[in-house]
Amino acid sequence: MSVQIVGISGSPIPNSNTDRAVQRILKFTGLSSQFVKLSDLDLSPCRACLGCVETNKCVVEDDGQALAELFHDASAFVLGGYTPYSSLDARTKAFMERMYCHRHRIGGNARKFGVAVITTACPPGVQGMPPAAETATSQIGFWMMEEGMTNLGTMVIQGNAPCIRCGYGDDCSMSGIKMLFGSEASVASVGVKTLEDDTALLSMAEELAKKLREAVIGQSAS
Ligand SMILES: Cc1cc2nc3c(=O)[nH]c(=O)nc-3n(C[C@H](O)[C@H](O)[C@H](O)COP(=O)(O)O)c2cc1C
Repeated sequence: MSVQIVGISGSPIPNSNTDRAVQRILKFTGLSSQFVKLSDLDLSPCRACLGCVETNKCVVEDDGQALAELFHDASAFVLGGYTPYSSLDARTKAFMERMYCHRHRIGGNARKFGVAVITTACPPGVQGMPPAAETATSQIGFWMMEEGMTNLGTMVIQGNAPCIRCGYGDDCSMSGIKMLFGSEASVASVGVKTLEDDTALLSMAEELAKKLREAVIGQSAS
């Protein structure tokens, strides 16, 4: 069954900040929607085999085929990723590559409206670290641009370095806590970041949802 808007999360963490942000935006659109967690699927990256050129259907036999159909039939999407090693995560990137099958000859991804959600452990303005959120934001933004989609905005969430939860964050010589938050920082001083504690982000989620809703309704009226 087709839905008006698809929400996709590349975060493998159960019920992660990324998942909840994507779900919140879907809910506030008031459109019919489906949420997909990519780590629940068997999804390979594109093989560049060009097997999709004539049919616009991917020949790789995994869950990417059904996902491509769901995405194709929707007018809009929310795409959420996170930033391992300071760029977009592999599952979200694989998803983007697999939607390539719609492109040939007919531009089947064009006319869609999208928003991005990026969750990053790197705090804003930190010195000496790659700009993870900006990199991931432009990766999704340029994908939308190259496919002729309309980008309605990006929401960047302050997430959690894995070292916050691993149990060794204050003792491990490889811990990212001091690297990201300064030499005095500890697991306790940084704490666990939760989307729902940030009212500005909650408002931004509603704002992005509103933009998606208006775009989809406007398109179906025209
Ligand atoms: C293997 C790995 C490497 C990571 N490297 C980075 C990094 O370089 N920069 C960064 O901002 N976050 C990095 N992270 C943290 C993720 O961005 C973080 O898990 C994400 O913000 C999700 O947080 P959440 O648990 O709050 O949803 C890394 C996570 C993993 C698992």
